[in-house]
Amino acid sequence: EIFDLTIRGGTIADDTRVFEADIGVIDGLIAAVGPNLAAGRRDIDARGRLVLPGGIDTHCHVEQRSGMGMMCADDWYSASVSAAFGGTTMIVPFAAQHRGMSLKQVAHDYAALAAEKSVIDYSYHLILSETDATTLDTDLVELIRSGITSFKVYMTYDQLKLDDYQLLDVLAVAAREQALVMVHAENNDVIRWVSQRLLERGKVAPKHHGVSHVVLAEAEATNRAIALSSLLDVPILIVHVSAREAIGTIAAARQMGAAVYGETCPHYLTLTEDAMDAPGMEGAKYCCSPPLRDADAQEALWAALKEGVLQTVSSDHAPYRFDASGKLPFGDATTFKQMANGMPGLELRLPLLFSEGVAKGRLTLPEFVALSATNHARMFGLYPRKGHLAVGADADIAIWHAERETTLTSAALHDRVGYTPYEGMTITGWPETVINAGRVIVEAGALHAERGSGRFIARTAPLPCTAPRPLSPRGRFFRALADDAAARTPAARTPEARM
Ligand code: URP
Ligand code: ZN
Ligand code: ZN
Ligand code: ZN
Repeated sequence: EIFDLTIRGGTIADDTRVFEADIGVIDGLIAAVGPNLAAGRRDIDARGRLVLPGGIDTHCHVEQRSGMGMMCADDWYSASVSAAFGGTTMIVPFAAQHRGMSLKQVAHDYAALAAEKSVIDYSYHLILSETDATTLDTDLVELIRSGITSFKVYMTYDQLKLDDYQLLDVLAVAAREQALVMVHAENNDVIRWVSQRLLERGKVAPKHHGVSHVVLAEAEATNRAIALSSLLDVPILIVHVSAREAIGTIAAARQMGAAVYGETCPHYLTLTEDAMDAPGMEGAKYCCSPPLRDADAQEALWAALKEGVLQTVSSDHAPYRFDASGKLPFGDATTFKQMANGMPGLELRLPLLFSEGVAKGRLTLPEFVALSATNHARMFGLYPRKGHLAVGADADIAIWHAERETTLTSAALHDRVGYTPYEGMTITGWPETVINAGRVIVEAGALHAERGSGRFIARTAPLPCTAPRPLSPRGRFFRALADDAAARTPAARTPEARM
């Protein structure tokens, strides 16, 4: 059969090797990888270019309300377009259950928004803020079995946080159903206690966000999340790791055989806390949780990526406009407690990681591919369909010009945030042509994809949950205890039933 598309003469990289070959695409799938492939209905000349798997972003906030109740600036259309321009061909944002909401309804509504608007392939995770019987034993189980095989829980934010008892309830369901739990690990009471004292002293400027989200709060909660997961010996992913101390805790747990994984984000690798110290409210642009840290933390993060202590780099795209509709609900009178948390990052995730990582010699190309695509696919139930360039996989491909220099400006980006934390920075390397399921969706700076043309991808069980691994005797004991049907009646899920 003749190829629909042939990508010719490029340098291909996957997560293990770099080699020269052509790629032939038929019906959205990679049909051949090899030398001198036949001409396709369409040929793309990739000589002098890198041919890499399209990026997968498994942590981004799209058309979602935050813990503080604020709607972010990007919907499924603008977010997916922005992602595509940055070389990402699949996003996995969050359907967020706020307190009192039906998890099933939340997922249903979110899926409809995605289907109507996304221009690239997608799935979503859940965010759980309730641990009642319907949420955990009916809706969550059903959703996991229908291909939503991961969810996030918060240890901080008053409106979303689960206490340790609830975390154990949730971890037990994840263990039973082979779902991956993503944990936002910060100690809520430490942050509240410090914040209160800062506010009382009139210290309300954006930089105090960083003071209150002290490293110790992240380190303590990371340690606690790992301890709780160890009780049931269930895999967890600590998201947006920012601190050297948290990395150390994750590394130690892994050393002991725990299935603990970690993610970081480009902003922690490229920006430091002094950005929050800008005059007036300007620092709010750089406010995220956990906050930006220092140069020492950055060094530890790069090393942790290199050593495999952290496995994924995601954007944590949390887009809020720098005005009263977004970051600053009370204008200049906004305190650091009232600012929206989060930074934009979908479009520049891979260009920043490529420039600061590959171009500066901190990462090899296979490491870049693993951190940007392959590990995401493995860890979230998308492999081998996505995350690599092999026969039978979806033709999700980004063709990179490795030497191209770009000076970043907000105006050139496709999100709806209206600013970029990286304004004026010059980076090396850009994904010029982006292909999702065989469709050339970005080419020569233009979008060629219809609203709603992305596909929902049902996910299988995440590799961390299925990889053969001997359970610890403790894990086996407490899993059996949790699986005991008597412990899973609706009555046992009520707050009153908690001793
Ligand atoms: O500051 C952040 N990260 N905002 C987004 C919500 C979250 O915690 O991931
Ligand atoms: Zn065909
Ligand atoms: Zn978070
Ligand atoms: Zn997030």
